[in-house]
Amino acid sequence: MKVSVIDTSTVWMRNKLIAAQIECLPSDTPIDPTEHRWWGLYVGTELAGFASLDPETGYLSRAGVLPAFRGRGGQLKLIKAREKAARALSLPLLTSDTYNNPASANNLIACGFRMYQPSFPVDGVCYWRKPLQ
Ligand SMILES: CC(C)(COP(=O)(O)OP(=O)(O)OC[C@H]1O[C@@H](n2cnc3c(N)ncnc32)[C@H](O)[C@@H]1OP(=O)(O)O)[C@@H](O)C(=O)NCCC(=O)NCCS
Repeated sequence: MKVSVIDTSTVWMRNKLIAAQIECLPSDTPIDPTEHRWWGLYVGTELAGFASLDPETGYLSRAGVLPAFRGRGGQLKLIKAREKAARALSLPLLTSDTYNNPASANNLIACGFRMYQPSFPVDGVCYWRKPLQ
């Protein structure tokens, strides 16, 4: 599995990202792929997963691995690719949050994230951050 930057300039790619978000996160409203930066997890030419980063704030805004490709370390690769990009942008901090999601939480911990308590936490949400500088 390889991770590469996704060019969201085509309608075809944007629709593919929206469909993948709906498949992986059916309860969430898909993020508009023209917002933020996006990476794809690929097996050959097949999209196996996706992830996004808000380049203004360092927020890991979305990630998913399609069911057929889960359990193979794809999410770790997607976190690492976004961290590399954030460092290249000289962002001071990465943040994320998870809800009822031990797999994601464990992958964030494996990448060096720690939990923190924001000023106005939402019940049940785990908040994560990793200083980059
Ligand atoms: C959470 C998610 C991104 C993890 O992606 P992944 O690339 O499968 O992550 P990993 O390979 O590290 O596997 C995660 C866990 O799922 C387990 N797993 C193995 N095969 C699996 C399968 N076929 N289906 C689901 N989980 C599986 C793994 O064993 C692992 O658990 P472990 O760390 O205790 O061994 C993915 O399950 C997903 O897209 N879920 C729905 C969307 C979502 O939750 N997005 C993240 C929002 S914060």
